[in-house]
Order: sequence, then structure tokens, then C-alpha cells
Amino acid sequence: MESNQDALCGGCSHQPPTEHARDGIGRRTFLAQTALLAAGAVLAACAAGDATDPGTTVDSTSGIKVSDFPALASVGGIALVNVSGNPLAIVRTGDASFVTLSRICPHQGNTINPNGSGFLCPGHGARFSATGQWQGGERTSNMRSYATSYDAAAGTITIG
Ligand code: FES
Repeated sequence: MESNQDALCGGCSHQPPTEHARDGIGRRTFLAQTALLAAGAVLAACAAGDATDPGTTVDSTSGIKVSDFPALASVGGIALVNVSGNPLAIVRTGDASFVTLSRICPHQGNTINPNGSGFLCPGHGARFSATGQWQGGERTSNMRSYATSYDAAAGTITIG
């Protein structure tokens, strides 16, 4: 019995496993491992945040072909475009509806990235919905949006 106890407890005098949990040894080990996992998640998030896609350059805010952006084939799809150096995100919000959002963060101007079904600013962590509504993280206003019309016959979008 004693030797079995030593093997489970690493040679200490505690009764496994309840005394370890009660005196916090198990908890400390758990917290240390959790901290390492959290640090890894933060590094992964930073790496993802650094990879800012400038978007596909388009020459004009009118006549943008939806078919040029496979992501816009389905509702909820997000296409990143760049018009005259302005990073924008076009979001398909319905079968015949789109919204265009400025990716310049209203907080301090970092470039906002798509994240899941919405957006995340790598600057200070502001989160936005797919339609640019502020949802959490650093408190700021909503993403700036631009009226976006869709010509179904031509399959094109016009911003503004
Ligand atoms: S610049 Fe976007 S959250 Fe601060």
C-alpha cells in the first residue's frame, strides 16, 4: 500500500489525489499549464493579427465584379479590396445586398482584419460584427460604412 502511494504521489506524504487538490499542488500545476497554453494562444493571435491582407486593388468604386471575388458568392462572405489606398471590406449581407466597410479602425487607425464571421482590430482588440457594429474589446465606434448598390443583371457592385 505504501509503495503504491509513493508511486502516485512522487514520494511525498500526501494521500492521492484529494490532498494534492486540497493543498493546491494540483491546482498550481494546472494553472502553470493553463498559463503556457494561454501564452501560446496569444502568440498565435498576434501572428494572425500581423498578417494584414491589404486587399485586392480595384481601379474604381463602380462596376466591381462580384464574380472576381469568390468569397462573395455566398451570404456572409467578405472580400477585401483596396481603392486608391483605402482598405475596404465588402460583405455580402443577402442575395442582392452588400455593405462596404472601411477597414481603418475608428479607435486609432489600425487596419482591421476579418475574423470568424466578423472583424477584429489587431491594434487593441476591438471586435466588430460582419456589418461593422462594435461588439467588444477596445471601446470605439462602429466601422465606417458606405452605401453599396448591386446590379444583379451585370453582377456588379458600386460603392458610394
Ligand atoms: S486601433 Fe483598433 S482597437 Fe485600437
